[in-house]
Amino acid sequence: PRVAVVFGGRSSEHAISCVTAGSVLQAIDRDRYDVVPIGIAPDGRWVLESGDPDRLRIEGPDHLPSVDGDRASVALSQQTGSTDLIVSEPSSPPRTLGEVDVVFPLLHGPWGEDGTIQGMFEMAGVRYVGAGVLASAVSMDKAYMKIVLSASGLPVMPSVTVTRREWAADAQACRERAAALGYPLFVKPARGGSSIGISKAHDASELDACIEEAHLHDSKALVEISAEGAREVECGVLQALDGTPETSQPAELRVGGDHEFYDFAAKYLPGEHTEIDIPADLPPGVADQLRSLAARAFEAVGCEGLARVDFFVMPDQSLVVNEINTMPGFTPTSMFPKMWAASGVDYPALVDRLIRLALA
Ligand code: DAL
Ligand code: MG
Repeated sequence: PRVAVVFGGRSSEHAISCVTAGSVLQAIDRDRYDVVPIGIAPDGRWVLESGDPDRLRIEGPDHLPSVDGDRASVALSQQTGSTDLIVSEPSSPPRTLGEVDVVFPLLHGPWGEDGTIQGMFEMAGVRYVGAGVLASAVSMDKAYMKIVLSASGLPVMPSVTVTRREWAADAQACRERAAALGYPLFVKPARGGSSIGISKAHDASELDACIEEAHLHDSKALVEISAEGAREVECGVLQALDGTPETSQPAELRVGGDHEFYDFAAKYLPGEHTEIDIPADLPPGVADQLRSLAARAFEAVGCEGLARVDFFVMPDQSLVVNEINTMPGFTPTSMFPKMWAASGVDYPALVDRLIRLALA
C-alpha cells in the first residue's frame, strides 16, 4: 500500500510534528509500504519532502526543524471538496492524494489534530490514521473535552474559559471568575499542545500576564485549578483490529531542574532531565483504574486508532483526566511509543498497526 506521511503544518507544534515524522519515517517498513512524505509549510503550502530523518531533529532551542515551502519540489493545491487534491506541478510521485491508499497525518495542534484536515480527507474519500472529525475537534479544545468527559462521568480539573472578547469587555469579571477557582491556577490556550503558551499564575498579580500569553495563541484561554502535589501519569490507548481500545502500561513523568511543570523544554530539548518511570509506580488498584479510565475517555470522545490520555494522580490517589491527545508525539523523547514498547508493541509494530487499522 502507498502511505502518505503528512507532517509539519500550520500550528505552533510544527517542529514537533517534523521530529515525530522523522522517527516514523525511519521506523516504517519500506518493504511493505510505499511511503510518500508530504510536508506542510508553516504558511500552509503542501510540498513533497525528501523525508530525510537527519533533517527532522531538534538540535537545540534555536534549531528546530521545519518544512521549507520555498524548497518545495512540488506544491499541492489545497482544494477541498474535490475527490483529488491536485498536484500543481508535474512530478514523479503521486500526482494526487487520491492515489494514496492511506494518509498518516502526523500533525499536532490546530489544522492537523483538530478535525480540519480529517474533514478534508473525508471529503476527498481518502482513508487516514487516527481519530475522525468530531473526536479530533473535541479533544483539541480543552474546554469542550472537559464538557464531554464530565458528561460521561469522568473526573476533570475544574476550570473556566476567558475569551479575548470577554477579557477586552470586562477583565475584572474574568479575574473574579478565575479567582473563584482558587490560586494557584494554570492558564492554557484552549486549543494548543506541547505546553506552548501555558503558564502558571501563582496569585492574582500574575493572572493578567498569563491570560494575555494564552491569548497570543488562541482567542480562548482556559483557566484551570492547579493540581498541587499531583503526579503526572500518562496512558497510551491503541485500538485492536476489532475496535476494542487497549491500554498500555501507564508511565509517570518526573520533571526535574527548574521546570515547574512538564513544559516545552522538559518535553523536547536535549539535556533536560525529565525522568520517566515505565510502568509508573502506582498501587495495582490505581494503575488498573487509570487504564480503565483511559479506555473510557477514548470511547467517550469517540476516538479511533490511537490516543494518549494524560492524568493527574492526586495526593489522595484519586485520578483526574488532564487531557486526551488524538495524535500524540512520536518523537524519540515521546511517551506514547515508549509506553507501547514497554507493553510489548515496539515502534515499527506500532506504526504498522496504526496503518493497518486505517486500511481495515
Ligand atoms: N501535543 C504533543 C505532540 C503530545 O501530546 O505529545
Ligand atoms: Mg496536548
